[in-house]
Amino acid sequence: MDFRDLSFPGAPSIKTPPPGPKSQQYLAYQSAHEGSTVSYSKGMPMAIRRAKGSTVEDVDGNLYVDFFGGAGVMNVGHSNPTVVQAVMKQIGELTHALDFPTPSRKLLIETLSALLPKQLSRLSFGGPTGSDAVESAVKLAKYNTKRQTIVAFEGSYHGMTTGALSLTSGRHFREPFLPLAPEVHFVPYAYCYRCPFNKTPDKCDLECAQYLDHVLEDPHSGVGKPAAIIVEPIQGEGGSIVPPAQFLPKVRQICDRHEVVMIADEVQAGFGRTGKMFAFEHTDTIPDVVTMSKALGGIGLPISGIAYREKLNTWPAGQHIGTFRGNVVAYAAGAAALDFMVRGNLADHALTLGERMLSSLKELERASRIVGDVRGKGLMLGIEFVKDKTTKEPWPEGARGVRSACHRRGLLIEIGGHYNNVARFLPPLVLTDELAQKGLTIFMESVQEVDRQL
Ligand SMILES: Cc1ncc(COP(=O)(O)O)c(C=O)c1O
Repeated sequence: MDFRDLSFPGAPSIKTPPPGPKSQQYLAYQSAHEGSTVSYSKGMPMAIRRAKGSTVEDVDGNLYVDFFGGAGVMNVGHSNPTVVQAVMKQIGELTHALDFPTPSRKLLIETLSALLPKQLSRLSFGGPTGSDAVESAVKLAKYNTKRQTIVAFEGSYHGMTTGALSLTSGRHFREPFLPLAPEVHFVPYAYCYRCPFNKTPDKCDLECAQYLDHVLEDPHSGVGKPAAIIVEPIQGEGGSIVPPAQFLPKVRQICDRHEVVMIADEVQAGFGRTGKMFAFEHTDTIPDVVTMSKALGGIGLPISGIAYREKLNTWPAGQHIGTFRGNVVAYAAGAAALDFMVRGNLADHALTLGERMLSSLKELERASRIVGDVRGKGLMLGIEFVKDKTTKEPWPEGARGVRSACHRRGLLIEIGGHYNNVARFLPPLVLTDELAQKGLTIFMESVQEVDRQL
């Protein structure tokens, strides 16, 4: 499939340095009328007029290459015409049906089931966000096990609703709202660049997973027997962290040994982004519950869901209920998007293009004194900025500076990481080689500009 026609021609093109005059008016209106918690428009100040494929146009007519992808939503590309067509048809027929069966709901279930491992045979749609998928998964695990404790990982991001926030590790997110749900414990993720066990990948015996096993096994660890362990197979907001291949299978073994429900949070890594339909497929691991959202709505229609094993399907009618428990238009969008992903081999494209981008970034890592680590899988890439490559002192200002420099030159990127010092690429998976190269060139120039400021 040729992805070139899906994006605007001519990107990047900066006519007026952002934020241009029209963007400034929108931003001023936003800051006068909306809650001060809005955040993305502060990091990349602009108002957006339209977007196509892997390009975005602001209200001043500037065209950007999009390595941000609506924070990992736009796998099939902005305004994907196949998905738009399915959405328009659905809007004319039916837009709301609570959890009654509908043709588009059935089509999405059929399409999704064909892509999931057969063991995950039950689907449940929740409220419109990834956070709600996490809430459902945790409630399902607690309901089935009659236990309270949940184990999550350092660097995790599972959402902002109170239950999901309880499982999100970032202090600045959590501390203003403590106490959150009780009995949540965090253990180290396999973050090899900053290993808390002082190991390097060549001398590692997966001490992080061994520690998890110890915490569950030792009656004096202070951690009650968990209902579930929730894990991102590749950590997203934590800084695009790819664990060693044996990490996830080891977590699976530990869950089996201790009879704990294994929840894989695929809200960000799912739907082809990492080179497989789901990131857990890079290993031979099959979780008990999978959370899904973001790219499931195709072109940004809000939907979330969980897939889980039949044996967990014990909860009675109404146990996880809501007015927008599934969205009819999003089902149509999701079914069309999944079909497009398969027909367009988006996962394979993400894998090969991602490998090429990663090897260019590895050269940058070797050449630059402020790039401490680059990593990722498929089109989920991370570039970690440090003040000093020996001490690894994090440089969040550097990452922010690079994001601004990219924005001024016509490239949109995301920032995350334990110390907010990781530039993150989550482009639409229909990114072309040409736009990838243009984006990378801008990124490299921006890194050089910021390097000169240290
Ligand atoms: C892995 C993961 N889980 C859950 C969420 C929460 O999703 P939402 O922001 O749609 O509530 C996110 C959001 O980035 C995520 O990356």
